[in-house]
Amino acid sequence: MQREQWGSRFGFIMAAAGSAVGLGNIWKFPYLAGTEGGGAFLIVYVGFLVTIGVSLMMAEIAIGRAAHLNPIGAFRKLGGNRWMPVGALGVITAFILLSFYSVVGGWTVAYIVKSISGSLVGGTAEELGQQFGALVSSVGEPIFYHGVFMALTIGIVLAGVAQGIERSVKIMMPALFILLLILVVRSVTLDGAWEGVVFFLTPDWSQVDGGMLSAALGQAFFSLSLGMGALITYGSYLNADANIRSASCWVVGLDTMVAVLAGLMVLPAVFAFNLDPGAGPGLTFITLPAVFGEMWAGAAFQVFFFVMLLIAALTSSISLLAIPVAFFSEQFGIERKKSAVIIGAIIFVMGVPSSLSMGLWADFKILGLPFFDLMSELVDRVLMPVGGMLTALFAGWVAFPKMAEELTNRGTLPFPMLNVWKWMARVFCPLAVGWVMYVGLA
Ligand code: PFF
Repeated sequence: MQREQWGSRFGFIMAAAGSAVGLGNIWKFPYLAGTEGGGAFLIVYVGFLVTIGVSLMMAEIAIGRAAHLNPIGAFRKLGGNRWMPVGALGVITAFILLSFYSVVGGWTVAYIVKSISGSLVGGTAEELGQQFGALVSSVGEPIFYHGVFMALTIGIVLAGVAQGIERSVKIMMPALFILLLILVVRSVTLDGAWEGVVFFLTPDWSQVDGGMLSAALGQAFFSLSLGMGALITYGSYLNADANIRSASCWVVGLDTMVAVLAGLMVLPAVFAFNLDPGAGPGLTFITLPAVFGEMWAGAAFQVFFFVMLLIAALTSSISLLAIPVAFFSEQFGIERKKSAVIIGAIIFVMGVPSSLSMGLWADFKILGLPFFDLMSELVDRVLMPVGGMLTALFAGWVAFPKMAEELTNRGTLPFPMLNVWKWMARVFCPLAVGWVMYVGLA
């Protein structure tokens, strides 16, 4: 059977940028910047993106294109059975990540419905906080919306790479940028917004510690979709003459830009309305509706905002589901549509405990953490960095000749920094990741 391919370079970049730009940028990054000290976090984070992030993204896409296979098949093809577990780790990570990502995706769907029905407008931050708490801690409603989100994800993935994923991201990503720009302009022009801009952009170096470094690195991996084979999978559908380096730079650039814009959308508004930037995960869902409530045409902006958040979440969740779908359909010959539905259903069930851990099962803790937090910390602080570290070692030491072929398009594309990249992959990335994990977990 002919393997599917992206229809165009733009389509691939939008799909990869769509994977990268997600809840991580718009929901998580602003609240992390809020809790981890603003400007200093931003600088450390961008530092990780442009060094480790770009190098690893190139490695993942190159591995995918060299093998034309899902992550498990790719590691086995290029490195033998010994390396296959790295691919397997990626597939498992994708299952876990999507299970709780979809719960948050479901909240987004719920908030679109609430915004349209008008039930969020006009509340104070306190009331909105209670509404958010009531949604996430109830049983049926968030699970229902988690199911809706998974169904949307499955619907796109089962339509195929070019027909489903590419076609949808080519519309969704530009729409997202436009909505984001409108909201940033609105936010930074609010009275009193400047303080938020200053908080976000001025570094306070005393905030840098092990916890912050590891949060920044975890966020860099999460935000770029690294360390679990999403880009190996997307790279496997890339044609031979595409330029992997420039595509990677585009994706990292777009992802960084969206995170910075999201910071500029959320934090100035939070300051303008005297809300707490350190509010944590509720920041987006609680403080922004409070802001919209007091704004001219706020109800419309609010619908825009949650639609944008849903788009961002979907273009990422489809890349997560695409990983196991590629594996099961290639390895076991299960038809793509069938595997999308079955795997999606399994992931939906896996997400249920995460959803319940916000309410009914809140007291059930493992290692002192509710289930949702446990899953999220496990992915952020352990699975993704370990996956990324092993991928870098693999690309630098084991598969370097293949990587060099891919990164230079078999010698036709000059790459003067190839040696720098090699040592980034061989030594710098693994050491930096290992060190940050050590200080973060110690
Ligand atoms: N990069 C996505 C975000 O920032 O929301 C999350 C993600 C998607 C992580 C796909 C990993 C992945 F494979």
